[in-house]
Amino acid sequence: MSKKPTKATITFDNDANSIELPMLSGTAGNDVIDIRNLGKHSVFTYDPGFMSTAACQSNITFIDGEKGQLLYRGYPIEQLAEHCDFLEVSYLLMHGELPNATQKTEFTSVINSHTMLHDQLSNIFRGFRRDAHPMAVMIGVVGSMSAFYFDAMDVYNPQHRIISAHRLLAKIPTIAAWSYKYNLGQPFMHPKNKLNYAENFIHMMFATPCEEYTPNPILARAFEKILILHADHEQNASTSTVRLVGSSGANPFASIAAGIASLWGPAHGGANEATLDMLEEIGDVSRIDEFIKRAKDKSDSFRLMGFGHRVYRSMDPRAAIMQKTCYEVLDELGLHDDPMFKLALKLEQIALEDDYFVSKKLYPNVDFYSGIVMRAMGIPNSMFTAIFALARTAGWIAQWSEMNADPEHKIGRPRQLYTGETRREFVPIGKRK
Ligand code: SDX
Repeated sequence: MSKKPTKATITFDNDANSIELPMLSGTAGNDVIDIRNLGKHSVFTYDPGFMSTAACQSNITFIDGEKGQLLYRGYPIEQLAEHCDFLEVSYLLMHGELPNATQKTEFTSVINSHTMLHDQLSNIFRGFRRDAHPMAVMIGVVGSMSAFYFDAMDVYNPQHRIISAHRLLAKIPTIAAWSYKYNLGQPFMHPKNKLNYAENFIHMMFATPCEEYTPNPILARAFEKILILHADHEQNASTSTVRLVGSSGANPFASIAAGIASLWGPAHGGANEATLDMLEEIGDVSRIDEFIKRAKDKSDSFRLMGFGHRVYRSMDPRAAIMQKTCYEVLDELGLHDDPMFKLALKLEQIALEDDYFVSKKLYPNVDFYSGIVMRAMGIPNSMFTAIFALARTAGWIAQWSEMNADPEHKIGRPRQLYTGETRREFVPIGKRK
């Protein structure tokens, strides 16, 4: 294997002195050019969208976009989705190792002891219109947690970070489920701690005070896989938002609320809801070509929802697992002839044979099938991104904690390429054109 470079040199096409910069290597993935001192040479780099910029070091998640590989603390996502439950994966993301039996029991017990919300928090929901989008409600309620759980918000205190992380992980399913119940006008269902994390959420979503409700174990397991697949994903837009907000020392609840806000966008976590809306708009296999044509038309802002990814240049490994989960859930529910699923399969097949998608390496991503699974489970489109936020809270708190535990971390403050007016003198209103 060729020797790794230890430095990079920037030369200029005028007589300016060249600049030598150190190179840094991780345990996997691309090496980086350390440009932290570049500003001293009166020059910045320019990378809107961070297409080629590492904003931090992290030990949590690694994606190989070429191979379609996703690792949480080194473990392949396929193995974790197959063998773990969501709290095990959350523990792994937070602590770096899978829990042993004792650690798992203790962690589960701690999370179960925090699943209830402060009784006055339920009033926050009532400030919203009944038809408020669940993501709007979650942003508001999670942000307001800093007005209730402020006894452990010193971000530089490791014990406070753990307590707030536990509170967020434990309460986010209750908040998400209550956002849905509020939409329906049904009473909030309190968590039942004898149920596991996924069953508890499904119970709070679909149970009513009027009769006993037992979550379908096949659906609960499928839902747990959805949570595991969505738990973390390197420095995506919402995770980078959590880090940037948290870098100012903002409390964990404000930081996670900001992450939920970023995730809502249809280019990011909102794509699962947008994918289902798109499939419903396409409606029939006969109309697929019309939408493929639109997706390729530069003058049309339409994009094929659930396709493409900033990092994956091959199939998103989560999409493959989600497709398999889709089959399992539709079979369990006797919906294998589900027209939406058949439409999705046909759309995927056509797109993957189309030169535009092949040449641009646009493959289905995690959002392409997740909406179909959740719709089949009776979850409304408007709750898909809320469930994405529920799952990603595990990754967000792990990333937020990693940043705050790093004594070298600084407040995030990007620079810019200024293209505005240079200095000019004030013009009194009587002399303006
Ligand atoms: C998630 O970052 C993460 O890790 C995100 C995520 C996570 O777990 O956190 O994986 C979750 O957000 C998955 C992505 C969900 N979004 C969608 O499914 C929305 C549809 N996809 C696109 O908006 C787009 O693919 C993005 C936003 C996902 C990625 O966009 P990039 O990397 O900025 O790529 P780009 O917009 O520069 O596109 C490159 C080319 C462009 O064409 P050219 O200008 O080169 O001619 O591909 C085209 C784009 O027009 N393109 C698409 C397309 N996606 C990209 N054309 C049609 N349909 C699409 N879906």
